[in-house]
This record gives sequence, C-alpha cells and structure tokens, in this order.
Amino acid sequence: MSLFTLHGLVKRFGGLLVTDHVDLHVERGEIHALIGPNGAGKTTLVNLISGVLDPDEGRVLLDGVELTGKDAYERVACGLSRCFQITSIFPKASVRDNLKMALQAHTGHSFQLFASRAGNTALAQGAEALALRCGLEASLDQIAGNLPHGVQRTLDVALALAANPKLLLLDEPMAGMGPHESARMLALIESLRGSMAILLIEHDMDAVFALADRISVLVYGKVLVSGNADTIKNDPQVQAVYLGDEAGSDAAIAALAREVA
Ligand SMILES: Nc1ncnc2c1ncn2[C@@H]1O[C@H](COP(=O)(O)OP(=O)(O)O)[C@@H](O)[C@H]1O
Ligand SMILES: [Mg+2]
Repeated sequence: MSLFTLHGLVKRFGGLLVTDHVDLHVERGEIHALIGPNGAGKTTLVNLISGVLDPDEGRVLLDGVELTGKDAYERVACGLSRCFQITSIFPKASVRDNLKMALQAHTGHSFQLFASRAGNTALAQGAEALALRCGLEASLDQIAGNLPHGVQRTLDVALALAANPKLLLLDEPMAGMGPHESARMLALIESLRGSMAILLIEHDMDAVFALADRISVLVYGKVLVSGNADTIKNDPQVQAVYLGDEAGSDAAIAALAREVA
C-alpha cells in the first residue's frame, strides 16, 4: 500500500475545473515532484491535500487514514506537514524561539507531563537539534524576520519538520532564491531523503531532476504522466509542453489540453 494516495480528486472554482480527477500516489521515503506550467493547479492541489480547501469529489489518504474532511491541524497530527512559504514564521521571535514554539505545538502534551524545567530543557535541546539538522545553528539567536530570504525558507522547512511528518509538502521551496541559496535548499531536501516522503512542487527543473524519484506532470488540472526522470525527459508530450521552447509552450499546452480533454 502506498503511503499517500489521491483518488479522483476534483475541485472547481465556479465553472473552472482546476483539479480534474487527479489520481496520485507517493511511496514511503519517496521524493515525488509535481511539475506543470503556471496555472496548472499545483497550489490548488497542495491546498486540497493540506486541508486549506475541500475537494468537490475524491479522497485524500495518508498511511491508511482518511484525511478528506479533516481540518488542516488534524492532518498535521496525522503526519502531514506543509511549508507555508514563510507565513508560519513569527518574524519578531528568534530562530530558537520559533523552533521551540513549533516543537511545543506538536509535542506540547508530552512536554507538559514534565516539570516545567525538564520540559524547557527538552524543548531547548529539541530546537538546537532541529537547527543543526537544517544548518540553522549559526542563526539560532537571530530575529527570524531579519534573516535573508533563503534562511527564512530554511526555517520554514525546519518548522514543518518539528511536526515529525510522514509526508512533507514543499510548494516551491526554491522560489526567489539565488543559486547559492538554491543549492543549500537542495542539499537540505536531499538530506531528508528516506526519513520521510516528500511531495515537491518546484519550477527549478535541475533541482527536480536531481531530487525526484518520480515526477508527475500536471497540465490544466490533469496528471498527464508520472514516471522517473528519464521517462519524463523522453516523453514527447512533456517535451512539447514543458521542457521545450518556452516561447512556444503556451500554444503547445493549449494543443495538449485539447488532446487530453
Ligand atoms: N481561489 C480561487 N478562486 C478562483 N480561481 C482560482 C482560485 N485559486 C486558483 N484559481 C485558478 O485556478 C487555476 C490554478 O491555479 P493554481 O493552483 O494557483 O496553479 P499553479 O500553482 O499550478 O500555478 C488558475 O487558473 C487560477 O487562476
Ligand atoms: Mg502555484
């Protein structure tokens, strides 16, 4: 059984079919990339998975548990963490305090079982371990809102990891990053391989091909093809819409949408 499955997921905005009967599965420990042109419905799919939006039809299952209909916070407790593109960071608090708050939010109950001093020590150690895991140890006492963009994105990943997820959702973790920051984020994601499954939405195709065990291509809300990097690179339809000449891609996408409709 796959760790994570989408069954016939449908979402309409008014008359617009933005998620068109999507079936997708992510295996345990797999890094699965979701790619597709702007407007393909990638972020909508992430919102349906994380519980920000409810689907009109279909089911979301994680490790045998039905997530459909659950609130976003309940899904986190079921093992689903999502990076919220920095908005989950408390900008006026230090990195250390951000990490402690995130750990307390997800394990608060167990920390409360200890005397407050023991609980505090455990939280502080947990925050430092998490910082070390993400390469944030030098920034622990910096105010989060003052950090460079790339470090804030890294902190956002660290906050998601505080929930100890089975599946981590990353929506364009490299967006707005320079080459140096992108390389660091790539190394961080690579370091998570095997310890959880990752659903990665990313425009940077070099990063996608470097990281992904499998790739699914979304076009106009439909999964066009899923496969490993070679399958995707050699798929003529994908080449036409996605990897081909950028200038010609809009026309190619429209032609393809007619074909798959
Ligand atoms: N809340 C919304 N209401 C109406 N239309 C929306 C809404 N959110 C997204 N859309 C539309 O759904 C389509 C897919 O958007 P999105 O999921 O953001 O795509 P992607 O992340 O792949 O760029 C777009 O045509 C977008 O305009
Ligand atoms: Mg998007």
